[in-house]
Amino acid sequence: MIKAIIHGAGGRMGKELLRLIADSSDFTLAAAVDKFGGEGVQYTNLNGFDGEADVIIDFSNHVLTKEVCDYATDRRIPVVIATTGQDADERAIMAQCAEKVPVFHSANMSLGIAVLASLARKAAEMFPDADIEIIEKHHNRKLDAPSGTALLLANELKEVRTDAEFKLGRAGNAKREKNEIGISAVRAGNIVGDHEIIICTDSQTLTLKHEAHDRALFAEGALSAAKYLVQQKVPAMYDMKTMMK
Ligand SMILES: NC(=O)c1ccc[n+]([C@@H]2O[C@H](COP(=O)([O-])OP(=O)(O)OC[C@H]3O[C@@H](n4cnc5c(N)ncnc54)[C@H](O)[C@@H]3O)[C@@H](O)[C@H]2O)c1
Repeated sequence: MIKAIIHGAGGRMGKELLRLIADSSDFTLAAAVDKFGGEGVQYTNLNGFDGEADVIIDFSNHVLTKEVCDYATDRRIPVVIATTGQDADERAIMAQCAEKVPVFHSANMSLGIAVLASLARKAAEMFPDADIEIIEKHHNRKLDAPSGTALLLANELKEVRTDAEFKLGRAGNAKREKNEIGISAVRAGNIVGDHEIIICTDSQTLTLKHEAHDRALFAEGALSAAKYLVQQKVPAMYDMKTMMK
């Protein structure tokens, strides 16, 4: 059994993980941690737990990336960082952590998005002159915009369109430049997460779209990532691409 620390256990995703782990034959709960408490939460700080653990799964908030990475490094525990919205400093902290322990990070833990990214990349290669726009839709409680997944998709496309500039939203005098990848965010109701990529030439439009129906999808993906990560012997950054290989 894989002993998992769930960080952010009191949140929407944390609760899904606690529910899945309670029924899992592969995972057992080492500790449920959340700074602000919540149902089933045992610790309000990672350092409150010094028992045995095989993996940390973090669904808290990107501002805690350093705290999570410090704990993972000190205790030599592999860590799945599923939070989104990391700034450059926080990304550097994850990279440093990955020199000491295996670190898995993906802004989207669903296999469907990994497939979407690969299809979008193929389409961008096939239509080098097309305009590319990304539209993402999420629930009205989401803190960051654009979504980490929209940026993940945009970065995948930038590997093909190396001169691309990301244009976040469009207002006023905002004529489209040829090398733009436009990213627009919608926040409404209880939308779990929709991502649409529009690849448009003067004569045709290709639309690739993924809709998440249930956030359990991301929790299931995080457990698959954790299972994969505990098998990795080498400290490094891992993601959906490395896992799919
Ligand atoms: N990678 C993915 O596939 C994926 C999927 C869904 C959500 N997420 C990300 O996971 C994170 C959590 O999402 P959620 O929907 O469960 O959010 P949530 O707000 O429901 O839960 C976050 C939890 O973290 C805790 N927390 C601790 N310190 C915090 C702080 N400084 N600010 C805010 N919260 C703090 C809160 O108490 C809360 O219980 C977000 O970063 C979200 O973008 C990633």
